[in-house]
Amino acid sequence: MKELSLGEIIGKAEPLEYSFQLNGAEDVRKGDFVVAQHALQGLVLCRVRNVIKQAEKHPDSAGEKIINTVASVSVIGSKDSRGLLKPPKTAFSPGDLVWKADAQFIAHTLGLSGDEEKGLYLGCVDGYSSLKVLLDPEKLLTKHLAVLAVSGSGKSYCVGVILEEMLEKKFAVVVIDPHGEYASLRDANDDEREKALMSRFGIEPHGFAAVKEYGVGTGVNRLLLSDRALKSRELADMLGTKLNNAQLGCLYEAIRIARKDNPEYSLADISGALEKQDGSIKWPVLSAIEELTESGILSQNPTPLEELVVPGQATIVNLKGANALTQQIIVTRLLDDLFAARKFNRVPPFFLVVEEAHTFTPERSFGEVASSAVMRTIASEGRKFGLGLCVVTQRPARIDKNVLSQCNTQIVLRMRNPNDLKAIGASMERFDSLMEEELKSLPVGTSIVSGEAVEVNLVVEVRPRKTKHGGKAALSAAQQPVVVTPSSLRERKAKLLLDRSEVEKTGLKIHALLWHPFWVLSAPSGDLLLDAVYAKFCEQKLNEIVTYKPFADLKALDSNELLVLSKIFQKGEVYSSETSTLAKEVGLDRKIVDGALDELTDKAWLAKHDLGNLKAFTPAPKMQRLRVIDAEGDEAKAETIPRSKFAVSPEQVAETMELLRSFTGVQLVHLPIYIAMDSEGKARVIRAYA
Ligand SMILES: Nc1ncnc2c1ncn2[C@@H]1O[C@H](COP(=O)(O)OP(=O)(O)O)[C@@H](O)[C@H]1O
Ligand SMILES: [Mg+2]
Repeated sequence: MKELSLGEIIGKAEPLEYSFQLNGAEDVRKGDFVVAQHALQGLVLCRVRNVIKQAEKHPDSAGEKIINTVASVSVIGSKDSRGLLKPPKTAFSPGDLVWKADAQFIAHTLGLSGDEEKGLYLGCVDGYSSLKVLLDPEKLLTKHLAVLAVSGSGKSYCVGVILEEMLEKKFAVVVIDPHGEYASLRDANDDEREKALMSRFGIEPHGFAAVKEYGVGTGVNRLLLSDRALKSRELADMLGTKLNNAQLGCLYEAIRIARKDNPEYSLADISGALEKQDGSIKWPVLSAIEELTESGILSQNPTPLEELVVPGQATIVNLKGANALTQQIIVTRLLDDLFAARKFNRVPPFFLVVEEAHTFTPERSFGEVASSAVMRTIASEGRKFGLGLCVVTQRPARIDKNVLSQCNTQIVLRMRNPNDLKAIGASMERFDSLMEEELKSLPVGTSIVSGEAVEVNLVVEVRPRKTKHGGKAALSAAQQPVVVTPSSLRERKAKLLLDRSEVEKTGLKIHALLWHPFWVLSAPSGDLLLDAVYAKFCEQKLNEIVTYKPFADLKALDSNELLVLSKIFQKGEVYSSETSTLAKEVGLDRKIVDGALDELTDKAWLAKHDLGNLKAFTPAPKMQRLRVIDAEGDEAKAETIPRSKFAVSPEQVAETMELLRSFTGVQLVHLPIYIAMDSEGKARVIRAYA
């Protein structure tokens, strides 16, 4: 026996860890599985945590050195008579032998011998291509899943693999897809490098026909949501503009009246009831409702939910091209409807994937958004109704803890940020310092799977995808610039264009009427307008668009300033009393944050408001609210300025989005403007739209 062993246990041995000295017969690597004989439990499975080489003095001849190799080991356990995995309770004995573990023993102990017909094939145990990892789909459907890791580490890829497996097994799947990267489930993988890996995993390229894409952009089915029976809270969230209490009062009253007449009241019924109210408080409410109606998301003839949830079909809700507010409106209404439909069994059980989940269910300190409530409901009650949730995020610290804690299986890929590691630790059973170390250095595509769907934490090499991966590496996928021409603006051109003569009456001389390109960078607190031709940030004033700051100024900020600025763009405002929280959130020292706040104020990126003892910081450029939702229509016609003339290219915008991490989207819009000259010969940009 001794000849076949790897070595023997030395030094201090405990029930759950020991070290063994290698006899040199075979090499041992970090992550390898080994077995050791335990006095009470027989053969016990263990995993090598570290391998250390040490030089020691030779005991006999003075001065001569010998090299010892010692492996430290974490003990996993063995199966008891009832088939349960048990770690030993008494120590291993120094001097006992350690052997290499064979695949069958590993599979048996780790519970990997699942049913291939039923299980979802995620990949193989890292370093052991014969050990397939199968996830129990029932556990995912009834106990939820979280996929957590930094950008570019393979989250979406891994979710793609799970969806392929679900489609093969005829589950119904709905994906909230902010970056438009999942419709490629239709196409077979044609990546040569990945195809070369497939035989090792025993798979072949394969596309799925039953992939239906809905969205707000061009070239996809438009997703229409019901405008019926909107609850007042829901509607207030959707309106985007903050209504004051008096206005909210009007809205509640109008809904009460509308509901009395018809329990399935429409948006038009609410407007009708509002119009009948006395006084002028109702006007801003009415105009906000009108705006919502024009957004074209709500309809009297919504897309039937039965079309969205179909066994064996993946429904992709592509939100690319919609700003953060619009995305939240869509997700809120859709999930509300889907949850209700599932509750009353109008649609079959399904698996719901929410990418960028922290934007739809942010941790409370980051503020509630419209979709917060329904996400929480699905996380806590979905399981009762066969609605499985999968949240995907690169910022575990920023997602609602209540939602994360409901996810009983976690797939974690590379992760570094201490706050995020802490959040993962809090939501994960069996999370220890060893795992934390391991997470920091995981290669792309290797994950740690933990929780309900597996018996022990497993390091898994995710298999190649059968279908094409739609996401480009890291950020470029996340925030790829989109060209959008709001057709609603074009259709209403006659109504919206300021009459030329109106403008000239004010003493301005008009040179041209243009559809001028602007990049709209969206943050939760509003949009920043960037002139694509002149590379300047702009503000929309009453009649005019004025330049604010050169684009280049942003790039001149250092990384701490950018972190802080980006955060304030996200929050809208921060009080001096909150700077220590802010410091924690951005992972910087309090002093550095204070310094950055002063710098940014000096450079006029932030405005500082004196409120007695308290100061408030807000973005100095006015955050705009552009409702650009409609991406239909002929873009080319409106593009009067060729892309080659742009001073700010899509690539540069993508780079900027990398700097402004809390920005959620970017798109190119063309706004109708007059170029005019004032009496002093200065060029002015006049808004030709209302
Ligand atoms: N299991 C894997 N096998 C091969 N390549 C992978 C794997 N996982 C990720 N990748 C590569 O890494 C890139 C980033 O992965 P992605 O899933 O888009 O990251 P994330 O969603 O975490 O930002 C992909 O474009 C793909 O090329
Ligand atoms: Mg992704």
